[in-house]
Amino acid sequence: MITATETKLPRINTALPGPKSQLVIDHDKKFMSPSYMRDYPMVAERGYGAIVEDPDGNAFLDFAAGIAVCSTGHCHPKVVAAIQKQAAELIHIAGNDFYHRHMPQLAERLVGIMPKSHHYRVFFGNSGTEAVEGAIKLARYATKRDKLIAFYGCFHGRTLGSLSLTASKNTQRKGFGTLLGGVEHIPYPYAYRCALGHTKETCGGEIIELLEQQIFKRLFAPEEVAAIIVEPIQGEGGFIPAPAFFLQELQRICNKNGIMLILDEVQAGMGRTGKWWAYDHAGITPDIVLTAKGIASGMPISAFIAKESVMQWKPGSHGTTYGGNPVCVASALATMDLIEGGLMANAQKVGDYIFGKIQDWPKRFKIVGDIRGKGLMIGVEIVRDQETKEKAQDLRDRVIDNAFHRGLLTLSSGENSIRISPPLIIDEEQADCAIGILEESIRAAEKTL
Ligand SMILES: Cc1ncc(COP(=O)(O)O)c(C=O)c1O
Repeated sequence: MITATETKLPRINTALPGPKSQLVIDHDKKFMSPSYMRDYPMVAERGYGAIVEDPDGNAFLDFAAGIAVCSTGHCHPKVVAAIQKQAAELIHIAGNDFYHRHMPQLAERLVGIMPKSHHYRVFFGNSGTEAVEGAIKLARYATKRDKLIAFYGCFHGRTLGSLSLTASKNTQRKGFGTLLGGVEHIPYPYAYRCALGHTKETCGGEIIELLEQQIFKRLFAPEEVAAIIVEPIQGEGGFIPAPAFFLQELQRICNKNGIMLILDEVQAGMGRTGKWWAYDHAGITPDIVLTAKGIASGMPISAFIAKESVMQWKPGSHGTTYGGNPVCVASALATMDLIEGGLMANAQKVGDYIFGKIQDWPKRFKIVGDIRGKGLMIGVEIVRDQETKEKAQDLRDRVIDNAFHRGLLTLSSGENSIRISPPLIIDEEQADCAIGILEESIRAAEKTL
């Protein structure tokens, strides 16, 4: 139920940013690290459902969800109640040193959504990058090997281990010196730009061949490789899904060579694609799965979930102070209840609805090159020319800025794509509103060509 002052659609009253928002921006500019990269001057004051309001009373429809984090929307009453109740009982105890019932409760819940063929165990951290760091360590520990294989375009985080895997934008790596050794990157299947003309279902066979016939024969013997880490849908890289057969082939290679298959579900997981995990669409059984963002509606928690046969390290070999914090766990349990109780199905339903309405954009708009994704993880690639597929970052930025001024929050992804990743609670009316705003915003950007 929304109150009299609340809305479920955008309401823009001032020029943007409004005067109160501008004060926050000026304050921020004075004290905050300049490394933050805000796409546009949005200042958030409060949120409810799929709406975020700024201090000037403007209401924005949020199709960014804090980078796919606010899966249940902003401040869902059941999540807020769970957080409040837990905060009044116990805020912190350090799961590294003491037991509390919340950690195994959430761990059991996560194991319950893993493939039934294996028993899995869980380690909790605080952020996506921390899950990646832990998974690198576990894969090395379990295999007694140190080489890692990742993909161009992938994003796994910004701490030094995960940054060694990340190959998204060179600004993310530039200036930070030598990273982890023994990491090799190979291409990711990108059907829209496939040099061999493969489709979204068939692109990537030559990458499998490259891995087996070149990388394994010329660079790393497979028995030296600890892990292959892959995003089932590249998030920061442009919302690009890997074909099911490609993930199945990676699994075959990993099984054959004793390599850990790590699925980074930090952005794509937790029901966003209509299934708990995006890899579920390929029916594979990973060795290690990483989750963060969508798991706790905005409370900072991450996890890596590994086969019991893999997670065999000794007490003290890995730990953290805050991971599995009771308040974050309470939020995660409430979030998983809501995802299971209808939001995952809604992501599929409204995602299909949006696809149905926008799949002909490449025919209707000359700057839209490709529409892709699954459920409520949808990418729109913007090009200067559909024939040459020249990437148009400037036009993409203009579309996003136009949408902001019309009351819709979206984010960029990759060099020239827009990401559509709303909370999983949105309905068709909100989807229609966002589609209308995006169409106007694309049309306005096209006029500048
Ligand atoms: C797939 C993926 N892995 C890891 C990360 C890192 O997560 P965090 O920013 O919480 O460290 C991200 C963040 O965008 C991500 O999208």
